[in-house]
Amino acid sequence: MDNVVHIMKVSKDIEQLIPYKPGKSIATTKKEYGLTEVYKLASNESPVGTSPKVMEAIQKELNNLHRYPDPNATKLKELIALQANVSVEQIVVGNGSNELIDLMVRTFCQAGDQILTSEAAFIAYKICAKAAGVKVIETPLTSQMKFDIDAILKKIESDKFKIIFVANPNNPTGTYIPESEIVNLLEVTKDLNDTIVVLDEAYNDFVRVDDFPKSLNLFSKYKNLVILKTLSKVFAIAGLRLGYIIADDQVCNYINRIRNPFNVNSLAQVAAIAALQDKNYLEQAQKVNWDGLDYFYTQLKKIGVTYWPSQANFVLIDTKIDSAQVFEALLRMGVITRPVKAYGLPTHIRISVGKETENKIAMNALEKVLNELSNNN
Ligand SMILES: Cc1ncc(COP(=O)(O)O)c(C=O)c1O
Repeated sequence: MDNVVHIMKVSKDIEQLIPYKPGKSIATTKKEYGLTEVYKLASNESPVGTSPKVMEAIQKELNNLHRYPDPNATKLKELIALQANVSVEQIVVGNGSNELIDLMVRTFCQAGDQILTSEAAFIAYKICAKAAGVKVIETPLTSQMKFDIDAILKKIESDKFKIIFVANPNNPTGTYIPESEIVNLLEVTKDLNDTIVVLDEAYNDFVRVDDFPKSLNLFSKYKNLVILKTLSKVFAIAGLRLGYIIADDQVCNYINRIRNPFNVNSLAQVAAIAALQDKNYLEQAQKVNWDGLDYFYTQLKKIGVTYWPSQANFVLIDTKIDSAQVFEALLRMGVITRPVKAYGLPTHIRISVGKETENKIAMNALEKVLNELSNNN
């Protein structure tokens, strides 16, 4: 670093920040490896593609691109309010849920404050906090790769946190926290006055268990609960960037003070309205995902790879080999996965559910790669 010429000084936190590493793109992989067919199972995107109803809504809106978007996303918020049985004042819409994570940190934390989350939680919490000079405290995962709510409760006993981020289900582990444990957390934090609990439900539409929290019911009881959602996953508009929160009016009001007025573009607004009403698409996307996950489990058992049952649209596996090697070998076979070393999981790989054919190609490639690498190691 010594020979780097500094033109600007930044804070120590930003100096030390490791930037978010997105999944490798299909185009880059084709070019780098000289491949014609590449399958991207790296970013938890929808394998179903965009709903025709969304395409139609976007097509209509194209005539209005010379206009600024509605800064309040009025129609979209009215629809969310109706579907979630909350008021429009209890919703803030963001340019992806990532923007809302950043806005919440910047709204409620000052440099030197602390946020609390788990190890191997979705990494944006850490990046946004550190960028704002906010300290990140992480509790260890349980042996089943879950958020340890008891450990979180212990931390709260002795220390102050402005925001507690809970990804449920979590990325990259795919594990979830049942309602009883979330209620415990909300009961303890509800009277703290200065701590919000963010339940990040990016993947909740993929959940197949009965004891998953009914967060909207909890929201009517706990004022410090913020529910965070995205339309990047089951609703399949990741490229347009649309996320939202459901939170207390006052929480929303404060966030709106620093939110850029035109943060959500007009195509994203109309696309989201169409996507949220397209029940057929939702059911199709869920079925494709669940079939894909079940197929993964069968194959992973056959290959003898450790995995954690997932309530999301991906599965985390432990290859027991340096994940960089496995990732690279899979890339050569045209399969893009996600190594998750940055989450403190050095031998683990996250594989998103793809189309049926992609899933088959991925599992065959994985079997071959693991056989070869374990013979070499
Ligand atoms: C748990 C979780 N939260 C939030 C996000 C951010 O989603 P987006 O910014 O696309 O809405 C992701 C993306 O992968 C995620 O996994």
